[in-house]
Amino acid sequence: MLYPYQIRTVEEYQNAYRESIENPEAFWSSVAEHFTWKRRWDAVLNWNFKDPHVEWFKGAQLNITENCIDRHLATRGEEPAIIWEPNHPEERTRVVTYNRLHKRVCQVAQMLTNLGVQKGDRVCIYMGMVPELAYAVLGCARIGAVHSVIFGGFSAQSIADRLEDAQATYIITCDGAFRGNKDIPLKSIIDDALIGNKTVKKVIVYTRTRTPVSMIKNRDVWWEDEMEHAESQIERDGVVSFPAVKMDAEDPLFILYTSGSTGKPKGVVHSCAGYMVWTNYTFINVFQYTPGDVHFCTADVGWITGHSYIVYGPLSAGATSLMFEGIPTWPDAGRFWDIVDKHQVNILYTAPTAIRSLMGYGEAPLQGKNLTSLKVLGTVGEPINEEAWHWYNEQVGKKRCPIVDTWWQTETGGILISNLAGITPAVPGWATLPLPGVQPVLVDEQGAEITQQDADGMWKGNLCMRAPWPAIIRTTYGDHERCRTNYFATYENVYFTGDGALKNEEGQFRITGRVDDVLNVSGHRIGTAEVENAINMHAGVVESAVVGFPHDIKGQGIYAYVICTNLHKDENMTRQDILQTVSRIIGPIAKPDKIQFVKGLPKTRSGKIMRRILRKIAEGEMANLGDTSTLLDPGVVSEIVDGKI
Ligand code: WTA
Repeated sequence: MLYPYQIRTVEEYQNAYRESIENPEAFWSSVAEHFTWKRRWDAVLNWNFKDPHVEWFKGAQLNITENCIDRHLATRGEEPAIIWEPNHPEERTRVVTYNRLHKRVCQVAQMLTNLGVQKGDRVCIYMGMVPELAYAVLGCARIGAVHSVIFGGFSAQSIADRLEDAQATYIITCDGAFRGNKDIPLKSIIDDALIGNKTVKKVIVYTRTRTPVSMIKNRDVWWEDEMEHAESQIERDGVVSFPAVKMDAEDPLFILYTSGSTGKPKGVVHSCAGYMVWTNYTFINVFQYTPGDVHFCTADVGWITGHSYIVYGPLSAGATSLMFEGIPTWPDAGRFWDIVDKHQVNILYTAPTAIRSLMGYGEAPLQGKNLTSLKVLGTVGEPINEEAWHWYNEQVGKKRCPIVDTWWQTETGGILISNLAGITPAVPGWATLPLPGVQPVLVDEQGAEITQQDADGMWKGNLCMRAPWPAIIRTTYGDHERCRTNYFATYENVYFTGDGALKNEEGQFRITGRVDDVLNVSGHRIGTAEVENAINMHAGVVESAVVGFPHDIKGQGIYAYVICTNLHKDENMTRQDILQTVSRIIGPIAKPDKIQFVKGLPKTRSGKIMRRILRKIAEGEMANLGDTSTLLDPGVVSEIVDGKI
């Protein structure tokens, strides 16, 4: 057996779980032994949730790229590490072996070193889904630079804010990115983001779309030229190598920005050793990966799912990771099925929103596609409704493939609650059981553990974690206090997820959704305050309030109530202008689905917006608005109800 810590039966799961709780240090040290270390740890775990302060494998030294690449070369050097499927189906597929990946990552490491990047420097990566994105991420890790990948759907303003917050000194980007029939001018967006920026020294540009770009003298360089030069420097007898920098277990590996309930995205920081062990352990166990399997995670590397289950988890396991540049519905809604057929995909990991969208096209796009290679299906990002679950199970998995419903977050680094494919039972709509090392607890508003079952025999409350797992968030970049108040201060001595959940008598969990002011739109986290800030920047807008509403495909849609000074005669024109503003400030992903112009917002006497009421109206539950007597002006409510769109 290749992975000695792979769980193969329910009893093994129960034993591993028990041991991980009773003796976490022994448990995780027995897992960690199977990795490549430059120095062994002095202590497995030190922690308190008060500061918070968490250290895993303290004293150990390692480089994650040696675990993701070098250690596989002797046995799997000529096996595919990455299979790349381009946006255009007619374009050539690329297969990157572990040997080739090693060579490219070493070249990137040398290129970055040539340009002056040092250990600890923050490198922003804003690229489309090309293999070079994986090389860039791993090249940073090889030299100890902290990567911060920004999803290609964010605007120049969002990038500028992130560059500023991370004090990034280097950027790696592409001329453009292909997504469906669109060609997104990434470099030009970076140019806008850099107006007024004072920290960035160099921008490296990889050619993908051949979109014209303006290259600024002394700042912008071409990836191709730099990589060629790097190769000539480090090639000896046809072999290219670059030594992996020694990293401390707790040195930061990357920053990834995510939305919270405040107006400003947070830079979630993950460190090297714990993140490596966790993404590897969860990948192998949840998906029951077997060497040789082709794993297709449809996420973008710009999100945590791509970091953990396209790059680090699969590669650290010596797996074959399929990376797809395009979108599920272009050139038609059979694109995923063509890819599964063409590359004999064994594991498909996608989001409920994609399943619902494909479900809308019926069964025709699946016809004639050979899906018999599929063994395991997975979902992530949002609760999956039963209808979508059954469609996925019947039409895609042909009732032969276990579905894993994986619950986790950017802050958790990897999957925390999920069934194990084919080992522990799947329940439609339920993430089910905690992984070894994960100790969920449901609490009430005051932080007291829920002890009373409801009428259905369930426990219902806010989902928290009692103890750290190896990939827990370490800090929010540049502002540790923010990390504390966001996750560790709401309730004492636990990590608060921001999600609500149910637990049944079997100890299985069902995640019901966010309990804070964060929306989950197509599996993407968007803070309502961020959208409000963007809307409020539009001239003529006095105030706005944003809430979510149920959306058939996106899961949640964005509903904005907006007060304007002088509304244009043509309301729609103002609507379009506001959408344009939100696109500019955050990105197209944050555009409201509905904008209702109102004269006032329901507020308490102390001026707080009563979102509960706005949410109910957006959901269409007008009959049940609850107590409105504490409002400053109860009259606004009926006006809003009358004007609902
Ligand atoms: C939601 C994505 C229900 C949840 C990996 C969480 C889920 C947020 C599930 C994190 C699931 C993720 N079932 N809800 N299986 N997976 N979520 O940071 O609300 O982009 O807090 O990480 O997505 O989103 P993030």
